[in-house]
Amino acid sequence: MMAVTATPTIATSFKGYIVLIIDDNPTNLGVVVDYLEESGLKIITAKNGEMGHKRAQFAKPDIILLDVMMPGIDGFETCLRLKADDTTKEIPVIFMTALDNTEDKVKGFEMGGVDYVTKPIQHEEVLARLTTHLSIRNLTKSLNVKIEELTQTHQELTKNVADLKQTRQELVQSEKMASLGRLVAGFAHELNTPLGVVVGSASLLQLEAQKINHLMEQEEVEEDELLSAIKNIDEGANLTLSNIKRAAHLVSSFKRTAVDQTSDEVRSFQVHEVINDTITTLHNRFKNTHIEIQVDCPNELKVVSLPGALEQILTNLLMNSLIHGFDEGQNAGSINLNVQLDGDHLHIEYSDTGKGIAQENLGKIFEPFFTTHRAHGGSGLGMYICYNIITTQLQGTITAESTLGKGVVFQIDYPIALIADEKINNK
Ligand SMILES: Nc1ncnc2c1ncn2[C@@H]1O[C@H](COP(=O)(O)OP(=O)(O)O)[C@@H](O)[C@H]1O
Ligand SMILES: [Mg+2]
Repeated sequence: MMAVTATPTIATSFKGYIVLIIDDNPTNLGVVVDYLEESGLKIITAKNGEMGHKRAQFAKPDIILLDVMMPGIDGFETCLRLKADDTTKEIPVIFMTALDNTEDKVKGFEMGGVDYVTKPIQHEEVLARLTTHLSIRNLTKSLNVKIEELTQTHQELTKNVADLKQTRQELVQSEKMASLGRLVAGFAHELNTPLGVVVGSASLLQLEAQKINHLMEQEEVEEDELLSAIKNIDEGANLTLSNIKRAAHLVSSFKRTAVDQTSDEVRSFQVHEVINDTITTLHNRFKNTHIEIQVDCPNELKVVSLPGALEQILTNLLMNSLIHGFDEGQNAGSINLNVQLDGDHLHIEYSDTGKGIAQENLGKIFEPFFTTHRAHGGSGLGMYICYNIITTQLQGTITAESTLGKGVVFQIDYPIALIADEKINNK
């Protein structure tokens, strides 16, 4: 009686897949070929390694069944060539080896094979192995597509991050320019007052001089009038002189501040002086408010550090107190600056008695672009710039505390060199 074999089947997804069988004696495989074809696979054959390689290049099979023992180049060499060729290297290779040859099985894997079947070939086994490796191949393919997509996405993201960093840098730069603009505007405004007085008293001096001229032309000089005119001239000259001095002082402090803000240069400076310069710059912003600024800083404290950095930090803190803490200067209150030397560190406690910062925002104020004032043109970069200057440029720390309705306290701490050190270093 003939054994009844069930019709072989293969998953529909593999129907029409191409199997290349490379074997020098294909008649041996006749039955297997029929069986695989019946299952829905497409079979092509090659009689030796070289032909097999060529057919693989042109027919692009999905999988290869490769005999080990062949005249000419053997199965291992054929496999090496397939794996060395970009057009065929991805095609999985299953070796067909003699049943008892363990060495060949191991070598097959070493040559890049994914599996082996032993001769004589068992139909069901070969179909099962082909199915398994075709599935693996499909999975690998879609995995590669996913990896490709992910790599692409990753590249795009990296570029976006780089673009964002660039934009952020530009914004930080323009915020710095804006603060420089404020500085110039502040000084120009400050200069106006003493120069206005000088113009006024200079014309007064002119009038008094004309008066004296006039008196001298008369036959009888009124001594009282002469003395009074001279007294006026004296007073006018004093007023002119003191205001010219004030203007000169402003100009030199402006020069210092402008240079410091643009140069990032380390120099020795009097902390008190830099603080006062900064407050002077902002004077016109504070003068019509009821905000009192108190500075407690040892007069003689002279350090070697970055004065421009300190000015920028203070400008941001003061403007924030004015805008956020005291509602654009509509509310009254005070700002306190306490500066101390702590070993070779400068410690600055900055506090205001303004509105304070809500607990949920306190952790965010140093983040770039965080602002509660966007509608009014806040950039959210001020505290971020402060944080960066302090932690990166000055290698220090800044912390913020606040009680809503009571104000804020910033603790700033950074290393400085003292003048004594500088002298020692310069020796
Ligand atoms: N002294 C302060 N009082 C109250 N809130 C403050 C103070 N300083 C900073 N803030 C809060 O921190 C936020 C971030 O400040 P900042 O980075 O300078 O950005 P901006 O001033 O452009 O809003 C402000 O929007 C504000 O909510
Ligand atoms: Mg600000």
